[in-house]
Amino acid sequence: MSAQFGKVVVIGAGTMGHGIAQVAAMSGYSVTMVDLSDEILRRALERIRWSLSKFAEWGRIRPDDVDKIISRISTTTDLESACTDADVVIEAVFEDLKVKQDTWSRASRAARKARILGTNTSSIPIDDQASAVEGPERFLGIHFFNPPQLMQLVEIIVGSKTSDETRKLATEFARSLGKTVVTVYRDVPGFIVSRVLTRIEEVACHLVEKGKYTPVQIDSALKYRAGFPMGVFELIDYIGIDITYNVSSKVMAERDKTFRPIELLKRYVERGELGAKTGKGFYEWPGGARPTIPQDAGKDVDIWYIIIPGMNEAARLVEQGIATHEDVETAIKLGLNLPKGVLGYAAELTAEKVRSVLSELRAELGEGYDPSPYLLSIVAQPRPAAAKYEEIEVRREPPIGWIVLNRSHRLNAISPKMLDELEDAISELAADRAVKVIVITGSGERAFSVGADITTFSEILSSESKVPMAFWFSVRFNEVFRKIERTPKPVVAAIDGYALGGGLELALVCDFRIASDRSEVGQPEIRLGLIPGGGATQRLTRLIGPSKAKQVIFFGDRIKADEALRLGILDKVVPAESFEREVREFAMKLAELPPIALAAAKEAINTALNVSIDDGLRYESSLSALLFSTKDLAEGVSAFFSKRKPEFKGE
Ligand code: COA
Repeated sequence: MSAQFGKVVVIGAGTMGHGIAQVAAMSGYSVTMVDLSDEILRRALERIRWSLSKFAEWGRIRPDDVDKIISRISTTTDLESACTDADVVIEAVFEDLKVKQDTWSRASRAARKARILGTNTSSIPIDDQASAVEGPERFLGIHFFNPPQLMQLVEIIVGSKTSDETRKLATEFARSLGKTVVTVYRDVPGFIVSRVLTRIEEVACHLVEKGKYTPVQIDSALKYRAGFPMGVFELIDYIGIDITYNVSSKVMAERDKTFRPIELLKRYVERGELGAKTGKGFYEWPGGARPTIPQDAGKDVDIWYIIIPGMNEAARLVEQGIATHEDVETAIKLGLNLPKGVLGYAAELTAEKVRSVLSELRAELGEGYDPSPYLLSIVAQPRPAAAKYEEIEVRREPPIGWIVLNRSHRLNAISPKMLDELEDAISELAADRAVKVIVITGSGERAFSVGADITTFSEILSSESKVPMAFWFSVRFNEVFRKIERTPKPVVAAIDGYALGGGLELALVCDFRIASDRSEVGQPEIRLGLIPGGGATQRLTRLIGPSKAKQVIFFGDRIKADEALRLGILDKVVPAESFEREVREFAMKLAELPPIALAAAKEAINTALNVSIDDGLRYESSLSALLFSTKDLAEGVSAFFSKRKPEFKGE
């Protein structure tokens, strides 16, 4: 919570409105929800209670926080009186210009004191609404993603009358809700995420209509070869074909002639096949179950036909000064859950490829496919972000990829920035085919890492919104650490010196922990009056059992390497003098193993602690059967019979 904004009013208690109200109350604000009837408000409160009980179930809040949070929310049908003493007003009413203008005309007159008036629209132009607002310099778009309780991203959209001060305040406010904010400096249809997604949908549907590929082929290619969490047709089905069609025709095409209504979708809508909600769309959704998309269906698809138009759209936002390169990437990553932002694919492309794909599509689909000079400029220099790391160093020495924690003056304490960089580095090395093994180690003579940077704790302690800040800080550790844990390549922690707190927790998400004999490990948080926040209570317990984990975490002692080896925290202890050589030898041994089988083994073992033995065994059988489709297995078997050393290629 930020002290600047005491009272928040949310107008509209539907899906988005109640979610936003909940998020604000969870961050400590006192919130008033306004809607037309007591019945709607009662239902909204019920939904909030349900959602909070889920948070409590997942351990993200304490059970007794549920009532505390709800007690911060009041409800009313009296718009004017709710707004009188509001500092922030957010509107999430029906997406209709007239309704929004009426609402804002009343709300802005009543909310004399409010410094932020934000519309959570996804489709109605900001300026059209601003014309009804008293004090339009206070007015802007604050676009949450659905569901606001879970989605990290907020797009802030600056209208032509919005003041700089309002933009900054709104950014501060959204951040105080624990959100990641991206700024859209001009009100373009679709803002960032929906705009880029619509372009991708438009071109994917075009390729299907043209008979070049089928939806399954495209989805398989995007999912299994480009790392998308869902195929684009699966996503359209999931969101609703009618909704996606409306976005393409109403939100985009009506306001921007470079877009067109997607005719393929219209035909589905006319047949009443709307996707998951009707049980049928591009896929069948029996009982709502997600479709199965075969892994090799997309092997002949040229994925660049789908990705380049999305990149091109993103690049235009940058070149027109609508959003920064970084914000576009953040928005796409968080809004679409992509492994990297869409411009990140530039490193894999050449300008010729971009030109040839876009000129073909330009001829068929029009000016929306004119190549962006900015895109051409970044593909021409394949690694624009080469020197991007400051707090870590990434060294590629194929087959080993090194991540070196690089804050030796602070004993490699982990700052929020270091976490961001770790996340990027792990994705980068995971995607690099030449890298077979990842080694994480510390710089300097003294430490792997001494854990979370305690200066961040002081900042949190001096803030008004301690608890949400601390909560998200810990969540962030867990998010990044989980990514490292789930990397399909072996990851080794090479510890020379202290591995304490978050430092040991980072080592715990690695597959192996090798330490020099002078190292000391431990979870000293208790000595600060705290407990571990980066997973130790869970992972250490699974690794060495609850009583030993309690010994380590309760007492918070620094444990010498030999003892840590005995406890099972470390896997191998080697003399300090030969530490690096030993680490390399260990990593090289891993690099010789068949990568796909290693990834499958890692996946199966990591799953073992979370599922029943029956499910686990079935999973093992499935993964082991899948390996029969690899060339590596054929090579392994043939090498065995001809008594030679196998050469695994990861195919
Ligand atoms: N965050 C931020 N800075 C840290 C840090 C941390 N977790 N741990 C150490 N540092 C800093 C120290 O403040 C010191 O900075 P300075 O030179 O500006 O004074 C520097 O790193 C060296 O540490 P120092 O304490 O002087 O070295 P030491 O050899 O006396 O002790 C440790 C080393 C690791 C035993 C001690 O620093 C320590 O206990 N750190 C805290 C570890 C911890 O509790 N981690 C869990 C955090 S949740």
